[in-house]
Amino acid sequence: MTRVPFGIRGTGSSVPEKILSNDDLSQLVETSDEWITQRTGIKERRILEEGRTTSDLCIDAARKALDAAQMNASELDLIILGTVTPDRHVSATACKIQKELGCGTIPAFDMAAGCTGFIYASSVASQFLGNGTYKNVLVIGAEALSRITNYRDRTSCILFGDGAGAVIYSTEFEHGEMLGSEIFGDGNGYDVMYQLAGASEMAITPEVLDANDHKLVIRGREVYKFAVGRMVELIRGQRDAHPELELGAVVPHQVNMRIIESACQKLDLPIDRLFLNIEKYGNTSAGSVPIALDEAIRSGFLDDKSGKLLVMCAFGAGLTWGSLGIRW
Ligand SMILES: CC(C)(COP(=O)(O)OP(=O)(O)OC[C@H]1O[C@@H](n2cnc3c(N)ncnc32)[C@H](O)[C@@H]1OP(=O)(O)O)[C@@H](O)C(=O)NCCC(=O)NCCS
Repeated sequence: MTRVPFGIRGTGSSVPEKILSNDDLSQLVETSDEWITQRTGIKERRILEEGRTTSDLCIDAARKALDAAQMNASELDLIILGTVTPDRHVSATACKIQKELGCGTIPAFDMAAGCTGFIYASSVASQFLGNGTYKNVLVIGAEALSRITNYRDRTSCILFGDGAGAVIYSTEFEHGEMLGSEIFGDGNGYDVMYQLAGASEMAITPEVLDANDHKLVIRGREVYKFAVGRMVELIRGQRDAHPELELGAVVPHQVNMRIIESACQKLDLPIDRLFLNIEKYGNTSAGSVPIALDEAIRSGFLDDKSGKLLVMCAFGAGLTWGSLGIRW
């Protein structure tokens, strides 16, 4: 079967206005701006205001992506949202987005792949686009991690922030042809990052709330090693799959500056090929890559990369990891 070409037609992103700085965090837990900056590269992160939801960020990001694509919502054929912090477990947040955008009765669903959520969702979208089923697919990666972050745990609360990024993939496009996606999983790492209570395994009770068992737990050091290795493999994998193209840019998961630098060293990859905004937003999980992509496009970072290879990659809870190879 011939594969239908498709690419990126428009992007958008949305972050809350409320800022939580390293100094603010040092009022909550025993930490300092110096420690957080040195160990992670993060200076501040955005926090979703009370009364707002993940879908508010998604809808804002999606509208910006539609504007950039010069499209109406009625032209979309499918919506996929990558998130582990939906508005509610039932119903899918993607359905709320579909209604608010005014898309009609197109399919809309959520996917949970941790920080790899946007890459997984893009890979699924690619199947529908590449086989000719759909022409225009909205993929969003979004998170309100502050809602499940334990602000008594200094090893994790310093890392996370909130935000959403949206991409419209279309068979009518000028830039950003999708060349291929790779996605992976390893359930042996199921307990490396988790939220214990609030689903079928453990109900939320007063004891659970006291113990903060409804909040996110990460084994940071284990994630660290996994992340460096996977980032190297993912970028190398895309580079090897497209030897005819010069590697022009990488939009990586904004996980930790040291992880990113270490992977670049192993790959002998100049750090200035990477688009980085971790300093401003921290790790926004599934929101991380599409927010960075949108900022990379709008800031002109990709302007001189036409015809070159753009790699996006992420890794996270599951464990999951994956990459997208794009001809810019
Ligand atoms: C979490 C992370 C920043 C910790 O950095 P690290 O260099 O690995 O630090 P360590 O965990 O080895 O801790 C070093 C020391 O700093 C302390 N420490 C941890 N968090 C601290 C904080 N916020 N402020 C000050 N000290 C802190 C530890 O208690 C430890 O002290 P000890 O040596 O007396 O035991 C890093 O491991 C990381 O970024 N991991 C991956 C992030 C992640 O999981 N992302 C989500 C999924 S993609």
